[in-house]
Amino acid sequence: MNIQKIIILDFGSQYTQIIARKVREIGVYAEIYPFNLSKEKLLQLNPQGIILSGGPNSVYAENAPHPFAQIFNLGIPILGICYGLQLIAYLNNGEVDKSAAREYGRANLIIDKSNKLLDGINSNQVWMSHGDSLKTLPIGFEVIAHTQNSPIAAIQNAEKKIFGVQFHPEVHHTTDGKKILKNFARNICNISDNWSTESFIETTIKQIQNQVGNDEVICALSGGVDSTVLAVLLHKSIGDKLHCIHIDTGLMRLNESQKLMDLFRQNFNMSIELIDGSETFLSRLNGITDPEQKRKIIGKSFIDLFEIGAKQFNNAKWLAQGTLYPDVIESVSVKGPSVVIKSHHNVGGLPEKMGLKLIEPFRELFKDEVRAVGRELGVPEWFVRRHPFPGPGLAIRILGEIIPERIDLLQRADAIYIEEIRNAGLYDQIWQAFAVLLPIQSVGVMGDERTYESTCVLRAVTSVDGMTADWFPMPPEVLSKISNRIINEIRGINRVVYDITSKPPGTIEWE
Ligand code: XMP
Repeated sequence: MNIQKIIILDFGSQYTQIIARKVREIGVYAEIYPFNLSKEKLLQLNPQGIILSGGPNSVYAENAPHPFAQIFNLGIPILGICYGLQLIAYLNNGEVDKSAAREYGRANLIIDKSNKLLDGINSNQVWMSHGDSLKTLPIGFEVIAHTQNSPIAAIQNAEKKIFGVQFHPEVHHTTDGKKILKNFARNICNISDNWSTESFIETTIKQIQNQVGNDEVICALSGGVDSTVLAVLLHKSIGDKLHCIHIDTGLMRLNESQKLMDLFRQNFNMSIELIDGSETFLSRLNGITDPEQKRKIIGKSFIDLFEIGAKQFNNAKWLAQGTLYPDVIESVSVKGPSVVIKSHHNVGGLPEKMGLKLIEPFRELFKDEVRAVGRELGVPEWFVRRHPFPGPGLAIRILGEIIPERIDLLQRADAIYIEEIRNAGLYDQIWQAFAVLLPIQSVGVMGDERTYESTCVLRAVTSVDGMTADWFPMPPEVLSKISNRIINEIRGINRVVYDITSKPPGTIEWE
C-alpha cells in the first residue's frame, strides 16, 4: 500500500498481530513480515519505521532468528520489543543474561531519563513476559527506564533513533502502551499519513475500479460479516457489474437467508440471486455422520450449486472473496510447527475451476477493521457485530445424522438462546454463542408423563481470533431462563446442558 507505514518483523511472538492492530488503531498503517525479510525487499517497501517483535527464543539459542545484518545502519527508526530489544543488544555488542530473574505480569516502570519514546505517559504499569534480560548495554545506547527486576527495561540510541523495551507496549495491560507506540510512529518515525476506514474505502474503491475495469464480478454471499461488507463495498465501486449469489444450504440459522435478503433490500439497492440448495445438501448428507465427510460434501455441493448459479453471468471475469489479513500473513519458521486449526477454506478451488480471476479487497484488513468498514458503508450495527458462523453451518452442530426434524429443533433452540443472550445484554461480550444438538436421548418427566427426548448443549466462548477461547461465565439466571424456554417451547428437547470447556483442550465447535 502506497502510504507511510511501519513494518513489523515477526520473530514468532504470540503478540505480533496485536502489535499491527494497535499501530493501526492509532491511525498508522502497519504490515507484518517474517523476520528473514531481505534488505532489498524491506527497502522496496520503503517503511518509515521498523518494529522487531518479541519471540519465544533466546538470542543465544542455536538457530535463533536474526534479521539481516545491516538493519541497524539503514537510518530507519527501530523499536525492539522484548526479544527485539535483546536482538538490538546482542547484535550491537551488548550482553543478554539468561540467569537473571524471570519476569511475568505487571511491573512498575521508572523512567530514568526524559526521552521521545516514553514521553507523556501517565501510567507506569507495564506488562512483562520474559526469561532473558539485558546485562550490559549495547554500544552507543543508554538506559531510559528500569523496573524492580529489570535494571535495563528500556534503552535508546537517540541519534540513530533506535529504541528497545523489555516490556510489551502492545498488550492491554501496559496501560499507556498505545501512547508509546504512537510516540514511536508519530514523533520518532515522523509518520503523518493517516490510516483510517474512510481512507481505506476511498483508495480501495479506486483500486477495484482500476483492477476490474469494465469486467463483471461475482461474489458468493454467505451471510457472514465479511462477505456482506465485501458485497456492499464492491457494489459501491462497480454498481450493477456486481452479481451476488447466496446459496441457502438449509443448514443456516433460523430464517437466516430471509434476513439477509431483507437486509440488502432495505439498506442497499442490490439484487441478489438466491439459490435454494437445501434439497441438494440434505440428500447428499443423508446418513453421513463423520464431521470431515460432512465438511467435504458441503464444500463440494456449494461449488456445484455456485457454478450452476454463476452460469447466467457468463460475462463475469472475477470472483470476489473476503480473505482477511490473518489468513495471508506468511507464517514464520521460528514458530515451529505452526498451530493448525481446522482448514476452513469452504470455497477453495472455485476460482481455478471456473476460470475466474480472484479479487480480495480485504487481504490487508483485520476483522475489526472489516466491521468498521461495514459501519462506515451503512451496514446496520446489529449485523456488523454478529458472531462468526462456520461455512458448514448447523451440519457440524448436529452431531450424528442430519435430518430435517433435527435441523428444525436446533434452529429453534439456537434462536431462543441468542434472543435471550441479546435480552440480557450479553451478546457483545461473547465471541460466539450457539446451540448444539447431541445424538443421544435421555429420560425426563413432564407433568405426569415420562419423556425420552434430545439433549441440547449451549456453548458460549470469549476469544480474540478463534485460535484460543475461554468458556463464557453465563449468569445462572440467564441460563435458567434459556433452559426453561427451550424445554417448554420445543417439543423434542427435554435436557439442556452448558459447555464449560475452553480451547485448548476443546475446540469451539463440537465437530
Ligand atoms: P474450532 O472449532 O476449530 O473453531 O475451534 C474455530 C473457529 O472456526 C469456525 N469453524 C469453521 N468455519 N468452516 C468455517 O468457515 C469450518 O469448517 C469451520 N469449523 C470451525 C468456528 O465457528 C470458530 O469460529
